[in-house]
Amino acid sequence: MSEKATITLDGQTYEFPIVEGTEGEKAIDISSLRAETGYITLDFGYKNTGATTSSITFLDGEAGILHYRGYPIEQLAEQASFLEVAYLLLNGELPNAKQLQEFEGNIRYHSLVHEDMKRFFEFYPSNAHPMGILAAMVNSFSTFYPKSQDPNRSIKDVERTIFRLIAKMPTLAAISYKNNLGHPYMYPNNRLGYVENFIHMMFGLPTEDYEVDPVVADALNKLLILHADHEQNCSASTVRIVGSSQANLYSSISAGIAALWGPLHGGANQEVIEMLEAIRNDGSDLEKWVNKAKDKNDPFRLFGFGHRVYKNFDPRARIIKKSCDDILKKMGINDPVLDIAKQLEEIALRDDYFIERKLYPNVDFYSGIIYRAIGIPTRMFTVMFALGRLPGWIAQWKEMVENKEPIGRPRQIYTGATKRDYVPVKDRK
Ligand code: SDX
Repeated sequence: MSEKATITLDGQTYEFPIVEGTEGEKAIDISSLRAETGYITLDFGYKNTGATTSSITFLDGEAGILHYRGYPIEQLAEQASFLEVAYLLLNGELPNAKQLQEFEGNIRYHSLVHEDMKRFFEFYPSNAHPMGILAAMVNSFSTFYPKSQDPNRSIKDVERTIFRLIAKMPTLAAISYKNNLGHPYMYPNNRLGYVENFIHMMFGLPTEDYEVDPVVADALNKLLILHADHEQNCSASTVRIVGSSQANLYSSISAGIAALWGPLHGGANQEVIEMLEAIRNDGSDLEKWVNKAKDKNDPFRLFGFGHRVYKNFDPRARIIKKSCDDILKKMGINDPVLDIAKQLEEIALRDDYFIERKLYPNVDFYSGIIYRAIGIPTRMFTVMFALGRLPGWIAQWKEMVENKEPIGRPRQIYTGATKRDYVPVKDRK
């Protein structure tokens, strides 16, 4: 692309190359800006700043498009299995039958968690939030597998670390749930599929046989796929920047889990259900809550609404909203908060405040209703988001390592005190 951007600073004109992606997105490559001009750019929250080039996920926020390696999310959510999508994100292509069978076998082989790790759970407070446990336990994997420390180790070592993470996270999540209940842990049953195995570890009991409901398994498979990656979101960027220091993959993923926990990010799915229940308990005066969300003096936000990229609709929210109706009907559940969510969406989408700011339901607005219907407790909702996002985080880390990207180290504009001399405490007022 021969196009250039010209910037005139202090009377001098500089040219910078334009970079264009395969979907027509354009960027000004300012890699040499400071060296040539002495200036840096400033962009709080990186709203206008690209941190990298990537071939994993494409989003078009205006058109509500989401593709994983070129495949539309609508097709993958309807037709693929979660491990197929994990393979696609990690390797760039959908697996053939042999590759998928091998990948599934590698994941099954690593589904057990080291017996010593189970003792960790005994020391968490019984009301410990499962996201705090998950972030700590995933980071602890690096102490059990010291060979994983060097991300530039042999491809085999990195691959084994990737299999271990994808295989063990569901087991860890299920153990933290059982620990919360004071129930005995369930071991993985490797005769089951990946999603079915997780459901069985969550809801099965050693005292009886447990049949996984295919409706629940299908709903969870779809939700995990819808959460699998989302290009340079807050938690993926966290995984990349921690990984850019050549910290090991377990620690990079643990940092991603911590970032996802925030209520403005993945923690929003828990906030949405708690918000809907608060609205219901308050007598469902929806106008009152919508006005609270609009009131600058009120810290309340309409959780599950708004998005940094999507400015018309979040395609995942559309798929999940439709699935809500299907799944609740199939399971014979009538959840009053679903009606409140739909009415809230209707009121907000007619309101100038939300229209002007292009605020629409995002992936977190309806997902909690399905998690709840299949029996996942509210405090586990963000853990479910992490289970879905894991292959995306790993794919982003892998791409950053394979592209030998430099350590992430943003600049700043200093606005503090200028140089001044030290005054001994005896002379201070
Ligand atoms: C996820 O990035 C990703 O891809 C994330 C994600 C992924 O898959 O990884 O999609 C997952 O994190 C989804 C978002 C979940 N978070 C929530 O639902 C929390 C509620 N939403 C927001 O806090 C907010 O919309 C964000 C954080 C999602 C986006 O924030 P931005 O892009 O920084 O936008 P902003 O906060 O500057 O808001 C712009 C305006 C402001 O009003 P003004 O100052 O212009 O008057 O919109 C208002 C905001 O006050 N606003 C809201 C609102 N969201 C934005 N007002 C009321 N309720 C809201 N939910």
